[in-house]
Amino acid sequence: MKKFLDLGMQPLANKYLTSNDLKNKKKEQFYHLEVGFDNKTKLVSILNKVPSQKMFDDNYPYRSSMSKTMIRSFKALSKKIIKFYKPKIILEIGSNDGSLIKNFNKKKVICVEPCKNLAIITKGKGFKTYAEYWNISLAKKIKSNHNMVDLIYSANTLSHISDLDSVFKSINHVLSNDGVLIIEDPSLLECLKRVAYDQFYNEHIYVFSLLGIQNIIKKFNFEVFKVEKLKTHGGSLRYYIKRTSNSKIKISSNVKKQLNAELRYKMDKFTTYIEFKNKVERSKKKLVELLYKIKKNDKKIIGYGSTAKSVTVLNYCKIKSEILDYFVDTTPDKTKKYMPGTHIYIDKYKKSLLNNVDYIFLGAWNFKDEIFKKEKDFIKKGGKFITHIPTPKIV
Ligand code: TMP
Repeated sequence: MKKFLDLGMQPLANKYLTSNDLKNKKKEQFYHLEVGFDNKTKLVSILNKVPSQKMFDDNYPYRSSMSKTMIRSFKALSKKIIKFYKPKIILEIGSNDGSLIKNFNKKKVICVEPCKNLAIITKGKGFKTYAEYWNISLAKKIKSNHNMVDLIYSANTLSHISDLDSVFKSINHVLSNDGVLIIEDPSLLECLKRVAYDQFYNEHIYVFSLLGIQNIIKKFNFEVFKVEKLKTHGGSLRYYIKRTSNSKIKISSNVKKQLNAELRYKMDKFTTYIEFKNKVERSKKKLVELLYKIKKNDKKIIGYGSTAKSVTVLNYCKIKSEILDYFVDTTPDKTKKYMPGTHIYIDKYKKSLLNNVDYIFLGAWNFKDEIFKKEKDFIKKGGKFITHIPTPKIV
């Protein structure tokens, strides 16, 4: 891995602080957020990895059901899975609070979710749930309990696991011969195009490209037979994967198309990442200038969506509560707490919190359309949003 970007010292992204933590001056854990490119595999990853147990514990706050966009996306995919693949059994790695699997018959689903506070939700609804990390010993256990699985799905999870060989070896162990693996994660091409450097934080160990995925899975005789571009999480790719020995499924022409798009963008070349780094540094400068200029005119700015992504932005740009009065968010486990590192307060979302606010920094820029629709009144009254994607500006 060759380093191309330094985003400074960062706190663990999803570790929101309580007022007691602040009172007791709880020491937060910081790590150096550096990003590198591997010329051999073409993978992009963070260099200093935090152990999974420190990130995905029993108080994990992220809930995929908090966004209508995600719910809709999962529902549409579920329909497609049932129509095209008719799986007898479906395994989801990283089932979170069950937003995808709730679209399936309980008897047909196996959930894997190491965060116990989330696993308990799907368990409580009667879904078979393993509250464990995805690895070969769990794969063996699942195979002996349920036999082979004909569909495995994983969204925004595999990119959180450092040892990709272990991930695919374990999948290889339980996936039936003509089984299908579907994974989706933020797309590196979109991340580069949008200068979305906030896709990098301790949990996002990798930001995947088709180029990188192909290189990793070929070792296990898997191949991508279809890709889909998604709008979720600021531009994601959904990879449909099969065994190379399965000739019943044809390879779609969109695989080549995506690969060509990545090569056209020179994602196989280190220089591309140096250009990205330069854009990131310009983005920081511009955002800081914009926010300070607004603040100088005595305007009130708050944040909307206390995302893990905003943790990267705020800590990298050193934006604290002198600039952003507070954040609003709908997630129960984030609200009435403080942002990691910058200690900006997160209030439980209610419309009245937007009264007397002049500008809103869009932490959840990936839900821009959904949020703009919801906040029509704020916009009508002259309220403005600030986004840093693709370049810092008022919208
Ligand atoms: P994510 O970008 O990591 O998925 O997180 C999105 C965050 O934004 C999550 O904490 C929920 C929050 N959010 C709101 O507070 N209101 C909304 O309308 C939406 C769409 C998200």
